[in-house]
Amino acid sequence: MARFSQQPPHNNHSIMNERPAAQAAARSTTRTATSPSKPLRDSARFLRGFVRNPAQVGSVVPSSRWLEQRLVRNAGIAEARTVVELGPGTGGTTAAFLKAMSPSARLLAIELDPNFHEHLSQAFHDPRLALELGSAERLAEFLGARRLSPPDAIVSGIPFSTMPPEVSDRIAAAIAQVLRPGGRFVAYQVRAHVAGFATPYLGEPQKEWETLNVPPVRVFTWVKR
Ligand SMILES: C[S@@+](CC[C@H](N)C(=O)[O-])C[C@H]1O[C@@H](n2cnc3c(N)ncnc32)[C@H](O)[C@@H]1O
Repeated sequence: MARFSQQPPHNNHSIMNERPAAQAAARSTTRTATSPSKPLRDSARFLRGFVRNPAQVGSVVPSSRWLEQRLVRNAGIAEARTVVELGPGTGGTTAAFLKAMSPSARLLAIELDPNFHEHLSQAFHDPRLALELGSAERLAEFLGARRLSPPDAIVSGIPFSTMPPEVSDRIAAAIAQVLRPGGRFVAYQVRAHVAGFATPYLGEPQKEWETLNVPPVRVFTWVKR
């Protein structure tokens, strides 16, 4: 199991890689460096991911800077001690969260696509970041393996509208289970399916639109009571 560095400089990240056939058994490695090696809003790489698996990726372009900043605000990323990102993709949102986070905070990013995961493992070098390859259904397992405290914020871009309903329900239940009381769950989606799965566990969300994004998306924010 990889552990976070005890003294995280600003731009270092901790990572995990895995072959596609072994997605169910994620493994971990740790890296240290100073800055991403490639531009993080990598539209061509993102588009290739969409072409490989449109239902899973759910969008043809990465999130805009306006959406990233709305997610940072709504999730309270700057004040959070433990943050979880579900579906980091090519890492634009991940970079925005790391930029806003305190030096002592931790970010667990869970990605299902092995190609995106491999890209993230090479692009990021920040000991505050733990990358896991696998499904968000394994959220509690990944948090436990990393010995992370209950998250203050969970941010999700995964497409609940195209996943089997039982998978969506398992992810929503896991989010509600691990989030600390008072913690926030923020989901950005074109469609409203995520609300149907999370509301039974977390109550009614705050609902907004981010129009400065391609395409415009709904942003749902829950606060766990
Ligand atoms: C719309 S993209 C968001 C990418 C990035 N966060 C952004 O905003 O630009 C959704 C991402 O969720 C990932 N994903 C889909 N289902 C997932 C699951 N069950 N667990 C983890 N990641 C998943 C996809 O592979 C994709 O990278």
